[in-house]
Amino acid sequence: MRICAIETSCDETGIAIVEASGGLQNPKFKILKSLVASQIKIHRPFGGVVPNLAKREHLKNLPILYRKIFGVKGKKSKAKSCDLIAVTVGPGLEPALWTGINFAKTLTDAERTPLLVGANHLEGHLYSFLLPQKKKGISKCRNIAMSKCLFPAIALIVSGGHTILLEMDSFAKWKRLGETRDDAAGEAFDKVARLLELPYPGGPEIEKIARNGNPNAIRLPRPMMNDASPDGEYDFSFSGLKTAVLYYLRDNKNNNKADVAASFQQAAVDVLAAKTIRAAKKFGARSVLLSGGVAANKLLRRTLKKESGKIGCLFFVPCFGYNQDNAAMIAAAGYMAHCRKKKYKLAAKGNLDI
Ligand code: KG4
Ligand code: ZN
Repeated sequence: MRICAIETSCDETGIAIVEASGGLQNPKFKILKSLVASQIKIHRPFGGVVPNLAKREHLKNLPILYRKIFGVKGKKSKAKSCDLIAVTVGPGLEPALWTGINFAKTLTDAERTPLLVGANHLEGHLYSFLLPQKKKGISKCRNIAMSKCLFPAIALIVSGGHTILLEMDSFAKWKRLGETRDDAAGEAFDKVARLLELPYPGGPEIEKIARNGNPNAIRLPRPMMNDASPDGEYDFSFSGLKTAVLYYLRDNKNNNKADVAASFQQAAVDVLAAKTIRAAKKFGARSVLLSGGVAANKLLRRTLKKESGKIGCLFFVPCFGYNQDNAAMIAAAGYMAHCRKKKYKLAAKGNLDI
């Protein structure tokens, strides 16, 4: 099945063409093309994403990316070479989501050909570990989707808006174990970066300066890390950690930014890894799946890989470039939802759940 996918949930405009096969048992994806137009520079002066600016940029970028991918003006005829059009319907910023949905609608005809389906952005992150790495312009299928070896699995989705822990029995069936009670992990990185006067988005900046810092220099809290109570066992909380950094900076004017960044990063990773591994042990997981923008963090990847290995779990993380928002992952989400016969309404839903 050839899929054209569109992503506009936040500050990245993405369009991709992906070939999918194998169904729910053995899904495989081949990325024919995937383009992302990032708006980071536009939002940076504001220290975060401005919804109306995001909308304006998506409206500008969508036709440009479309022409780059399909190479011509004739929109309808080219998208018609696909079997499915998948577009993100949530979660995300509603004005931004609508731009993608409306654009996708113009690519189908009155008979809704090709078939237009809504996709869940979080499912995109969840399945993104199945997307192959591009090598010299050619993308091969990532051959890891043998369901028998993967499940049960524990999936940690860590992005700018979400921190969610799932227990998965298959590619189609999962249960939410826990989530953040306040800030998402990426949001905490962004807020701490702002306290350190680093530019938006803060995650990569914190990671960069943390390389020259001592992760044990400052004692910061690990909120909820040892909470084993039934209702808090798999939940997260990052706002206390951010506040601890705020107080530290207030009381220590002569601070070393690199030490603060390294200590914060270590605390956040310790909590994320501890909860994920606890769940993996409890549910006898065969694999641990990490995804979302924060999954680009090398300390988090390294720690979870090592800790998963210690308990005999396989560990999967998206290939470089597919952690951050992109449309190839939306093609995967659209394909899997289609296989699961899950139909999302073609309307923006900012708080869509997984
Ligand atoms: O998944 P994503 O691209 O967008 C959302 O769906 O939210 O995630 C963006 C988030 C931002 O908060 C950003 O600071 C964080 O991912 N991020 C990182 C790193 N790269 C991006 N956080 C920590 N370390 C990184 N290397
Ligand atoms: Zn995302």
